[in-house]
Amino acid sequence: MEIKKVCVLGAGLMGSGIAQICAEAGYQVTMRDIEQRFIDGGMNTIRKNMGRAVEKGKLSQESMDETISRILPTLDMKEAADGADVVVEVVIEIMDLKKQIFEELETIVPDHCLFFTNTSGLSITEMAAITKRPDRFIGTHFFNPVPVMRLLEIIKGYQTSDETLEIAKEWGKKIGKEVIVVNEAPAFAVNRLLCVMLNEAFFALAEGVASAEDLDKGMVLGCNHPIGPLALGDVVGLDTLLRIMEGLERELGDKYRPAPLLRQLVRAGRFGRKSGAGVYDYSKK
Ligand code: 3HC
Repeated sequence: MEIKKVCVLGAGLMGSGIAQICAEAGYQVTMRDIEQRFIDGGMNTIRKNMGRAVEKGKLSQESMDETISRILPTLDMKEAADGADVVVEVVIEIMDLKKQIFEELETIVPDHCLFFTNTSGLSITEMAAITKRPDRFIGTHFFNPVPVMRLLEIIKGYQTSDETLEIAKEWGKKIGKEVIVVNEAPAFAVNRLLCVMLNEAFFALAEGVASAEDLDKGMVLGCNHPIGPLALGDVVGLDTLLRIMEGLERELGDKYRPAPLLRQLVRAGRFGRKSGAGVYDYSKK
């Protein structure tokens, strides 16, 4: 099966990044969101990312314009999904919302269309089961920032066919990613390990083990991580991190209990960089 048109549902940080790299790989892309300001935000992020590469002389203005012309931003679900060979769902991590979207998609997309979901930890099998194509449904988990991070984690649901897996792997390579294949498990492979470490940093901070700055500095200088766990929590989004930990706790037990400080920051509306403050304050930067 040849993929020509990719429909990306969601124009946030992850959605716009996925739309960008798909367009860079030559696909026709539609990027759909529910409000004009999200669409505008997504297109601005793409222009900013690519504009930086043009300024550095790594990309010509002509290639940038050509890539952007391959992306059709839209509010209209039918326009976005009609005739798509692949839909990549990148909406907020709420299982019922994702299911509702896949149900709607079934009435629009052609039979051969594959469903990819960029969930950071929800069950692929559960989502696939409500569609008419559980064999053509697979998890494609990207990492933030999408154009920079090299990994694509591909997650097989219970009914995902080997053919779908092979197509998803090829697609991943074509959009410039290194692929790992993971069997379905709560939070898959990378977030299972990463989010536990991030959550532990919130316990350590609340217990007064060290300041936020020193906990982060410790992991950067002591373990060669590019960024400390608390600062990374702010990048990922503390609300997202909390949802992943809640999912892990629900599925695997108390060992994965979200840190109370993490919950408190989310309740305070401190979601991280995207809200202007999380563990750290970004309002003056
Ligand atoms: N979007 C696009 N490109 C970006 C970017 C962004 N937001 N931020 C940085 N870049 C590019 C820069 O343009 C630069 O490109 P170049 O090498 O072509 O010139 C390159 O990335 C390096 O950027 P900088 O030198 O400015 O900055 P750093 O050296 O600090 O690197 C970073 C930035 C690569 C983001 C680094 O901080 C990093 O690796 N952070 C960790 C990211 C991480 O762990 N992500 C995974 C999160 S978990 C996740 O997403 C899963 C989810 O389900 C929770």
